[in-house]
Amino acid sequence: MILIASDHAGYDTKEQLKKFLKENNYEVEDLGTNSKESVDYPDFAIKLANRVIKEKTLGILICGTGIGMSIACNKVKGIRCAKVSDELEAKLCKEHNNANVIALSSRLPQSLCNSIVKIYLETPFSNDERHIRRLDKISKYECQ
Ligand code: RB5
Repeated sequence: MILIASDHAGYDTKEQLKKFLKENNYEVEDLGTNSKESVDYPDFAIKLANRVIKEKTLGILICGTGIGMSIACNKVKGIRCAKVSDELEAKLCKEHNNANVIALSSRLPQSLCNSIVKIYLETPFSNDERHIRRLDKISKYECQ
């Protein structure tokens, strides 16, 4: 189950992404927000982050820039949230960083958001020793 959430600024992009994911046979759970009424992005980022950790799954967050969502999400232990702006980053954030969440800006074209999400979900972690070593260093620091 892929988890998705946005603030008001990301609402339209989230709705379109849900449709795209379902068309591509992904199961998706929407954690809100449910309208364009103003909300606070940390509420949704932290809610999604905790579910990603608990369920060992992947998440997609959208706000106006992707920045607030990524900052908030990365405060949750075990989260590696990448703010992604293009298709190469979508690939490398999984291959190298094993990102378990991506954050997108609602200012990106919808077709690019769809493409980013597809590439991110389809790309596996490389499991290369050097990448594992680097991620372990982050986990160790986090657990201090
Ligand atoms: C909301 O106005 C806006 O600040 C938010 O969507 C996001 O861009 C924050 O980083």
